[in-house]
Amino acid sequence: MGGCMRFAKRMDTFHASVFTELKEKKEEFTKRTGQKTIDLSIGSPQILPDSSIMQVMREAVSQPENYKYAINELDDLLLAIQNWYKKRYQVDLDKEEIICLQGSQEALCNLPMVLCDPGDVVLVPDPHYPIFVDGPHLAGAEVAFMPMKEENDYLIQFDEIDPELARRAKMMIVSYPNNPTCATAPDSFYEELIAFAKKYDILVIHDNAYSELVFDGKEGKSFLSFPGAKEIGVEVNSFSKTYGMAGARLGVCVGNKDVIQHFRILKSNIDYGIFLPVQYAGIEALCHGGSTIEETRAMYQDHRDILVVGLNRLGWKVKSSPATMFVWAKIPDSYSDSNAFVLDVLEKTGVVLTPGQSFGQAGIRYVRMALVQDGPTLQEAVNRFEKVHCF
Ligand SMILES: Cc1ncc(COP(=O)(O)O)c(C=O)c1O
Repeated sequence: MGGCMRFAKRMDTFHASVFTELKEKKEEFTKRTGQKTIDLSIGSPQILPDSSIMQVMREAVSQPENYKYAINELDDLLLAIQNWYKKRYQVDLDKEEIICLQGSQEALCNLPMVLCDPGDVVLVPDPHYPIFVDGPHLAGAEVAFMPMKEENDYLIQFDEIDPELARRAKMMIVSYPNNPTCATAPDSFYEELIAFAKKYDILVIHDNAYSELVFDGKEGKSFLSFPGAKEIGVEVNSFSKTYGMAGARLGVCVGNKDVIQHFRILKSNIDYGIFLPVQYAGIEALCHGGSTIEETRAMYQDHRDILVVGLNRLGWKVKSSPATMFVWAKIPDSYSDSNAFVLDVLEKTGVVLTPGQSFGQAGIRYVRMALVQDGPTLQEAVNRFEKVHCF
């Protein structure tokens, strides 16, 4: 090596982002003004798990036998997942159709490795949650984008996908309720998705991480509840946002048996199962920990209203999010791109937003605001916006 480390080309996939610059600007803002910054950039939930979940976790970590390699899921966890999918989504699952994950992120990263050879095409929405692109790239696959445009309510338009590209595609990633656009999809979208995937023989991964954060009395669904979905796809779901368990790392991938079984083979070579106390906490969450879901949903909906009403009052035309824990808004025409807007907003107000371009080129004229701070702090962010003229 001659003293100079040579890293793999695949590391070129990952770039230092605008967040490094934002971090420096945050410190500079506080030094200059003596005011704290208000961080609306990261989607890390502030909610606590139900106390019963924490109690089960506490008891389980005090048991010496829970420190062995778990290897597989506890049977009771698989059973709880079966009951959850049946009751909540009217979906029947065999145990062979379920695999638990160290967070749903894990499937988005590792499933492309199970399904794609170098050069295979993966269809990914644009804008997108970043791992949708990083996972296929790590597997050596080629990513082709499916635009999600505001004028189409951010729904992928299947009839606009080049048939030649569709024929080459091996896999596609789809996710509603959607991060970052906050869009939800109607039933007809899933019917079209399944017909498209069948026609071109494409495996679908549906990311349903925000299925419980749907507002205004509406309800999220499972992709698997639509006829034919299991033949061509899997769904990932998460305990992070629904049960406030983000750091405990528990997710699940359910659906097509062949895909799940191949994924299990890869996973058994990578990890030795999920820490047993996390599995016990997951069982508790599914069996008794649901009481906080409504509260959580109501809290995000309140936060959304504070921000959306406040910003519209100031003249920034921001749409009310139907779902997720974010607001997605167009930046003013006067800025060259969303990085420039976010840096200017931070400098003038101390409010940190996420530039839309960190979710792909289609986000270049948008910003994402996370509803993770409490109501008064979000109101303070609106008040700070009022004092400057960013839009
Ligand atoms: C769309 C989407 N999918 C998946 C994840 C990953 O969640 P988990 O904590 O289950 O890995 C996130 C996290 O923010 C997300 O926004």
